[in-house]
Amino acid sequence: MVENYNVIEVADSIFWIGANDRETDKFEGLLDLPMGVAYNSYLMRGEKNVLIDTVKSSFMDDFLHRLTGLLDSKPLDYVIVNHMEPDHSGSVDVIKRLYPDVKFVGNAKTVEMMKNFYGLEGCTIAVKEGETLDIGDRKLVFAFAPMVHWPESMVSYEPNLKILFSNDIFGGFGALEGGIFDDEVNFDWTVYETMRYYVNIVGRYAKPATKALEKVRKLDISMICPSHGPVWRSDIDKIIGLYEKWSRQETDEGVVVVYGSMYGNTKLASDAIARSLSMSGINPVQIYDVSRSNISFITTDIWRYSGLILSCCTYNMELYPPMAGLLRLLANKNMTGRHIGLCGTYSWAGAALREMSEFVEKSNGGWTLVGPTIEIKSRPTSADIEQCRMLGKNMAEIVKNKHSK
Ligand code: FEO
Repeated sequence: MVENYNVIEVADSIFWIGANDRETDKFEGLLDLPMGVAYNSYLMRGEKNVLIDTVKSSFMDDFLHRLTGLLDSKPLDYVIVNHMEPDHSGSVDVIKRLYPDVKFVGNAKTVEMMKNFYGLEGCTIAVKEGETLDIGDRKLVFAFAPMVHWPESMVSYEPNLKILFSNDIFGGFGALEGGIFDDEVNFDWTVYETMRYYVNIVGRYAKPATKALEKVRKLDISMICPSHGPVWRSDIDKIIGLYEKWSRQETDEGVVVVYGSMYGNTKLASDAIARSLSMSGINPVQIYDVSRSNISFITTDIWRYSGLILSCCTYNMELYPPMAGLLRLLANKNMTGRHIGLCGTYSWAGAALREMSEFVEKSNGGWTLVGPTIEIKSRPTSADIEQCRMLGKNMAEIVKNKHSK
């Protein structure tokens, strides 16, 4: 047995040897990581030694130390490459140099990507949907999960112990803080970070995710080992049910107000709308300054709640750039079934309201507009503030009605 820290046996001869990254500020260069992120890798020791996914290359040293220690001069026979994004495949080329006879198991798309990313050829095995890999005293069955998160994504199932290695699916942000199982961590915070991962990484592919979940539902599962976040073992149904809810785009009662303001005038209008929402019985009202809050938190709450108010100024005869960026991301995520209210401001040439209205029109009914639609010149007048109160009241009524059924 290796003398090491952080070798954790999650099940009989299955070891977590992943990495906790508390150094990267933004995942994919875009999404804030206030509490880091874990790259989970699992070693199955037995007649054949099998590694399930690897870690990001910058965290390889400690990972390889544990891998080689656990194998103790025995060969590594297979590496299962469930997903090629480099946070999971980043160490495969070094593993190939350490274990020249190892075979990398993926699908036809994985094989192509292994060549494109790492120049690895002739050492890959392409499995088909439902195919079984015999690994001596165990076996692994593979199911494809295209677009959750990339086209080659797949999951691996160990039927003897009923363990699903789900890669990005059921994964969440946050480095592991001592606890590795869901019953050892702050569950509510973990669910939030799992939803933030879902919305920002998988959300665009809600339909493929639903199909993948239909496959998962057919399996008898005692443990889910994802590639980020904790291992799920205490309430498998709960996490699968939450994932199904997010994939169906089911929302909770609540309204998000996102504003972009340079000198505080648009903020004034936004605060008036938020106050009206609250006085009309909406709780929570989540308010974000689009220039200051990381987009990953804003999109997560927009995904979660039924109502959205966008309130924004005009900038150089266009929509204020941070709001334009948010709208572009929201359009990319194909969100449906939510209500939206708009308030645009300008001083001499209005563009904010026009561009936000175009966003709603282009959603093809994904977003349902709630009035009044407001356009304010320079600083809100008493009449403008009254319109803001009306918008808040109308939105509150619609959202509350939706959730009272
Ligand atoms: Fe965790 Fe799509 O990589």
